[in-house]
Amino acid sequence: MRIRTVKKKDLYKITKLEKKIFQDQAFSKSLMKELLDQSLLFHKIEMKILFTKLIGFIILIKDMNDRANLINFAIKPKYQGRGYGTLLLKNSLDWLRSNHSLIKKIILNVKTDNNRAIRLYEKFEFHIVKKIEKYYQNKEAAYLMELNLESVKKYDLSL
Ligand SMILES: CC(C)(COP(=O)(O)OP(=O)(O)OC[C@H]1O[C@@H](n2cnc3c(N)ncnc32)[C@H](O)[C@@H]1OP(=O)(O)O)[C@@H](O)C(=O)NCCC(=O)NCCS
Repeated sequence: MRIRTVKKKDLYKITKLEKKIFQDQAFSKSLMKELLDQSLLFHKIEMKILFTKLIGFIILIKDMNDRANLINFAIKPKYQGRGYGTLLLKNSLDWLRSNHSLIKKIILNVKTDNNRAIRLYEKFEFHIVKKIEKYYQNKEAAYLMELNLESVKKYDLSL
């Protein structure tokens, strides 16, 4: 298992996974391409046996001087629930601490019925700030969640 920065050559597989998971709400390939340069962090998790298999990816952008926004996060359906999301998120938070010490907070939006994602975020001490009605195009509600990086010093998770 390895975690690497996403490159242009990865976008085909990443966009395919994005479409499979988020369907009509998926980010377009051109947006993904822009995010290669404009994101704070765009990492993939992959498995290398004979070939390299994409397992998932995560994207954070900087939306204020001291704040990052986790705007996309997906693990391939057949690998979900096996700890890869935990591994990728943990690695991203550690990477941010080491490389962007000015970032003090991370926010994200998650569908209110996405229990797996919410449990994962709570495991890392994200908390729900508020519910935003009709946040998504299809009028579903979202929770705004936030993590204060300064209050959580280290992740001691058994993976
Ligand atoms: C959300 C997502 C990224 C999580 O990645 P994952 O690899 O499936 O997550 P993990 O296996 O690391 O599990 C993380 C936590 O979720 C919870 N969880 C796992 N399976 C669960 C289930 N079936 N139901 C509820 N919670 C579950 C657990 O708390 C687990 O932690 P634990 O095993 O230490 O208790 C992934 O499931 C996914 O891509 N989902 C679809 C896209 C999505 O919703 N993205 C997030 C948008 S905000």
